[in-house]
Amino acid sequence: MFSPGHTQASITYVIGDAAFVHDTLFQPDGGTARADFPGGNAHSLWDSIQAILSLPDETRLFTGHDYRPDGREPVWESTVRQQRETNIHLSNGQTVEDYVSMRNERDAGLPMPKLLLPSLQININGGALPKPEDNGQRYLKIPLNALTDAAWD
Ligand SMILES: [Fe+2]
Repeated sequence: MFSPGHTQASITYVIGDAAFVHDTLFQPDGGTARADFPGGNAHSLWDSIQAILSLPDETRLFTGHDYRPDGREPVWESTVRQQRETNIHLSNGQTVEDYVSMRNERDAGLPMPKLLLPSLQININGGALPKPEDNGQRYLKIPLNALTDAAWD
């Protein structure tokens, strides 16, 4: 399934009764993925999540991250029914407008992930590392003085 929103090219793999949903839904107590990366879009993420939640109730959903709220033990699997009934970002009768507003407001306060810039440089190059320079070394570029609110440590 094409599942844009967290990123422009996000996809979900549906295999039998399992779906690998990467960064769309997290565990129900973790909510949903941010949508403020390049090409991300909260409205598209809502649509992608609704498509995932239209899979059969007992479909097993495997998420991309688990942020372990309150330090609970790691969890990597949920079901469509659990997500629909208990996901903190989806289970209170939210409309698409509620969701997009919540998502955009929340994302505006999240820091840039430390590995975003290296990841982007490799991802937009189809997974290939930069070409070696004259000394044989490959370099990623980090604009240190252009991102004043980045979390570097
Ligand atoms: Fe992600």
